[in-house]
Amino acid sequence: MDNKRREGFSSGLAAFFATLGAAVGLGNIWKFPYVVGENGGAAFLLIYIICIALVGLPVMISEFFIGRRTRKNVVGAVKQLNNGKIWTGIGIFSLLGSHFILFFYSCVGGWVYSYVFKILKGEFAGATSRTVAYQFTNTTMGPISPVIWQIVVVVVVSIILILGVKNGIEKITKTLMPVLLVLIVICDIRALTLPGTKESLAFLFKADFSKVTSQTILIAMGLAFFKLSVGMGAMVTYGSYFTKEDNMIGTASKVAISDLIVSLLVGIAVFSAVFTFGMKPSGGPGLLFMTIPLVFSKIPFGNILLVAFFILASIAATTAMTSMFEVPVAYYSEERGMSRKKAVIVNAIIIIIFGILATLSVNNDSLLGGIKIFGKGFFDLFDYLSSNVILPLGGLFIAILVGYFIPKEEIKKELTNNGELKIDKVIDFYYFILRYVTPVILIIVFLSSIGIFR
Ligand code: PFF
Repeated sequence: MDNKRREGFSSGLAAFFATLGAAVGLGNIWKFPYVVGENGGAAFLLIYIICIALVGLPVMISEFFIGRRTRKNVVGAVKQLNNGKIWTGIGIFSLLGSHFILFFYSCVGGWVYSYVFKILKGEFAGATSRTVAYQFTNTTMGPISPVIWQIVVVVVVSIILILGVKNGIEKITKTLMPVLLVLIVICDIRALTLPGTKESLAFLFKADFSKVTSQTILIAMGLAFFKLSVGMGAMVTYGSYFTKEDNMIGTASKVAISDLIVSLLVGIAVFSAVFTFGMKPSGGPGLLFMTIPLVFSKIPFGNILLVAFFILASIAATTAMTSMFEVPVAYYSEERGMSRKKAVIVNAIIIIIFGILATLSVNNDSLLGGIKIFGKGFFDLFDYLSSNVILPLGGLFIAILVGYFIPKEEIKKELTNNGELKIDKVIDFYYFILRYVTPVILIIVFLSSIGIFR
């Protein structure tokens, strides 16, 4: 393939919105609040921020470097950088990671889309604990409707991808990300006037370290990877579309900070509502699908707020899925000679088939809930393996490849745009962390996660 004719983003702003669209997703809305809630609030948050700064961000910068340096899909990129040696494994690993996430993510994306539809139909008006529980069961257990909604989500994302990098990914993220940010601000303005706000802020910002264990650190690390969409080639792929003027360290930092702000804003809105009505912050995954509809329905203009909240969740799910799905699409169309359209369709079929397995095994009562692998149903297995194994391991490989197998001068040249940007000190700092801090933390956390080291 002639790389000169390869599509790319048209500006730094477009690259920022696309990358922010990749990072901001169901992770901020569905995962972040309940994971923070279940792991003790502020102390967890602090560890999470440290994981972002010392691990997530350096890996993101490295992925951008790999992508823009080679202007290739993840498999082609690592092959080119290291003459096709063992590092090609990183590429294959990335493809696996993106598929695993898409299998369960498309399921939750389907629930979110279906909630928008149900709220607009008035099914949540005057909600009670019984009706929200009924709606949640109905949405998730189907078995037909969750599968149909999952297919709808995959089809929407497929259409965006078939439109291409500029006309699809860039246009959609540039239009939808500002809408998403406005919707979050609206939700927060309303939430900040609720009586539970004080308790919510204390929960998020007053640290109690008594709940912190090695498991907490592992969970925080998994969340950081998942949140920043690193460790599986999405940022390599998007990096390969950046313009040659893009300040990649700047973009990565802006995305990491904006993503954190979005998570905090969502957390404040969710916990303010939760505490106002005396509910528990540790509501598990049902926090988004049961607690939120219940508490929002009790406040004035709650239904408008509720629909705004689920529309923003749908936007987040769509743009994040687009970035994951682009990883195999770029690979199949550049390395395997498929047309972009064919690559999208082939992968959409794979995602739908395995995604249905996840959707039908959400819990023990699901149609396939009885099937367990390593003690987990398909949904939990895909979620666990991707966040806790594939992404951190992928991140470790990327840190080692860039930190130890590529000459520093080459990295400097790329990150300064051939000397245009005067950021040598920043690069020295990044390089130091990437070599001596990121891999060490990852190895310790990883060994402790598989029980070798406590
Ligand atoms: N960052 C996304 C979220 O928080 O929902 C999830 C994600 C997107 C993970 C893209 C990985 C990825 F490549």
